[in-house]
Amino acid sequence: MSIDSIDAAPPATAQTEQAVREQALVEEVIRSFASGGSDRDREVMNSLVRHLHAFIRDIRLTEDEWSKAIGFLTRAGHITTDTRQEFVLLSDVLGASMQTIAVNNEAVGDATEATVFGPFFVENAPQIDIGGDIAGGAAGEPCWVEGTVRDTDGNPLPGARIEVWEADEDGFYDVQCSDGRTAARAHLFADKDGRYSFWGLTPTPYPIPYDGPVGQMLEHYGRSPIRASHLHFMVSAPQKRTLVTHIFVDGCKYLDRDSVFGVKESLIKEFAAQPAGTPTPDGRDLGGREWTRARFDIVLPPAGPSTATATKTS
Ligand code: BEZ
Ligand code: FE
Repeated sequence: MSIDSIDAAPPATAQTEQAVREQALVEEVIRSFASGGSDRDREVMNSLVRHLHAFIRDIRLTEDEWSKAIGFLTRAGHITTDTRQEFVLLSDVLGASMQTIAVNNEAVGDATEATVFGPFFVENAPQIDIGGDIAGGAAGEPCWVEGTVRDTDGNPLPGARIEVWEADEDGFYDVQCSDGRTAARAHLFADKDGRYSFWGLTPTPYPIPYDGPVGQMLEHYGRSPIRASHLHFMVSAPQKRTLVTHIFVDGCKYLDRDSVFGVKESLIKEFAAQPAGTPTPDGRDLGGREWTRARFDIVLPPAGPSTATATKTS
């Protein structure tokens, strides 16, 4: 829909006196922003004002509804701290985070799709060797993950940096525990052929923080806060677009209702169950435990003008 075509409320009527007044206000507000900021700032404000007013006029927003919306935003502000970002969570559950990621990660060849960053990435996670273990004591079923990193022409990307992080089997990231532990996160580098592998944990579903206004909103609309089981990746290489993504567990029952709309068909992978006693790829002795294995081949497109830095969510 073009910006100019959204000013038509009330719909399908002649330009009544009422419609003329409403439209005059839209134009007046836009004019108020016309003499400051950059061209881009004004473009953004112009569109924001037109869409916001179109929304209010379209649904004929009542004053009571306006008050409730202000109350909701006020509660979101009150619960937000340096470590709890309710507005980003709101963006996530409205699909606004995923839409921003879509706009900024245009499809290029067979480049791997991006998805939400989430709030649980930590800089300077420990480095592991290829084949190392990211668990750091976190509880969960061992999972062997392997794959390659290459560019959209099929060339391997030796030395590509791979950051991985995930929740433990109870659905908690290390940063959600109060003891300062570092667990279930690491970084490693692809080998000379672009290959990588590591031991992680078989991902399990867990809820986004739901003890605030966003959680209440989800409950009001009968929506679950649960995220489909996933393992986070951030992959970078010189002159390539940095990829922020996850892989999801094929068969997870939340794949079709991920609370932040992060699931992409191309990111759903088989985590093949390995019965107890199955020999491991690196000869590791798992003490008779069951384990899983998954493959994730990663393709990075060239860095370009549309390259975005990761959209940090919640
Ligand atoms: C996560 O995957 O960790 C996450 C993503 C968005 C909101 C909350 C959590
Ligand atoms: Fe996550």
